[in-house]
Amino acid sequence: MLTTLIYRSQLDSSCHSDALNVLVDHARLRNAALGITGIMLYNGQDILQVLEGSEEQVEALFQRIVMDKRHAFVVELMRDYGPRRRFENVGMLLFDLQISSPKTVLQSVLRYSKLESYIVSDDRVFKFIQSFITRENNARQHRDKPAEAWTLSCEPHPLGEPLGLIAGQSCQFALQPIVEPYEGKISSFEMLIRGNDGGNPEQFFANLDSAKIYEVDLQTKAYAFALAKSLKIGSHKIAVNLLPMSLVNVPGAVEFLVEQIQLSGLQPEQVIIEVTENEMISGFNTFNKAIKALRGTGIGFAIDDFGSGYAGLSLLTKFQPDKIKIDREIISNVHLSGPKQAIVKSIVSCCTDLEITLVAEGIEKLEEWRWLESAGIRRFQGFLFARPQLNGVGDIHWPHMLR
Ligand SMILES: Cc1cc2nc3c(=O)[nH]c(=O)nc-3n(C[C@H](O)[C@H](O)[C@H](O)COP(=O)(O)O)c2cc1C
Repeated sequence: MLTTLIYRSQLDSSCHSDALNVLVDHARLRNAALGITGIMLYNGQDILQVLEGSEEQVEALFQRIVMDKRHAFVVELMRDYGPRRRFENVGMLLFDLQISSPKTVLQSVLRYSKLESYIVSDDRVFKFIQSFITRENNARQHRDKPAEAWTLSCEPHPLGEPLGLIAGQSCQFALQPIVEPYEGKISSFEMLIRGNDGGNPEQFFANLDSAKIYEVDLQTKAYAFALAKSLKIGSHKIAVNLLPMSLVNVPGAVEFLVEQIQLSGLQPEQVIIEVTENEMISGFNTFNKAIKALRGTGIGFAIDDFGSGYAGLSLLTKFQPDKIKIDREIISNVHLSGPKQAIVKSIVSCCTDLEITLVAEGIEKLEEWRWLESAGIRRFQGFLFARPQLNGVGDIHWPHMLR
């Protein structure tokens, strides 16, 4: 199937215009043999390339291009399918914005294209091209301190040695810190439920009597608060996950939480209840009442896995939590994906206007963290910084700039 792929990247400073011209001359011949057509735009720093051809050939070429050391920060912007090519007779053509004015480049691109003007005006490919030509490029902001300029150093068990399995409990908890790397600060700990042998939470919930699921879900929080006390978390905040219906279906749920929090010597303001976006949407009206009661006590409220459900940002028209955790699916490889970057930017902008704290979870790569910091996110959770540790806090890996 005819596929169009567009990506953006930054040419290495060692690769000058002359070298780029040679590269494109070679590419033109190779592409012609592979049935690939397209154009490349260059503004002295950034590249925008359009590749069109069979899905297999375009994908194979893109994989080669991504690995090419002559450019960096390759971000895929678009992948689409269509009935015909935009640049039929061009194996690869370079348009250098340093040599010609934006207007001339735009006119040349349109001249080379084989599409009628009524198609061009609504065509996403041409919109990407037009924006690149006319707009000050927006990739520049990510150029300052790339992932390679950073390294990680280990802070072992900040709260002392983990406690090991705690006897006599139906479940255990593993703590994973949420960190602010620039500040070198732990902002809170998420307490993740585990089976009574430390095993995964699915197993724990699968073994429960379905009639008791909400009651048990609520009661387990007492173990979490007691553990926070044993670990001497001090003034740190803790976050626990709760099924929203546990607040609705179990009588006196909010009072129970406050009582257990106080019994463990914590303040309600130190505790954040996390609920996933999907769960919130399904029972919003009933749930909203319970949330009001919860907030009335000072307990914080966060939406987990934000972006995974279909309500998305419209959920925020009905309800604004203290904190939003962006779904890991959006975070994963965000540095490589234009659509993911656009979604994160819109969430950042919305949460900035609404003064909602943002956390990016599931961070595994320095590149993901670098991109998210440059987009304005300050709090992070993920294996890159710290793994969950049963009944304790594991090593934290803090990023540092290499000299
Ligand atoms: C910005 C940029 C764009 C490129 N575009 C193409 C292209 O359109 N076609 C192509 O064959 N090679 C292109 N290359 C070169 C490929 O990355 C790669 O070097 C080339 O396909 C040879 O791959 P091989 O040595 O694995 O055979 C491009 C490289 C860069 C840095």
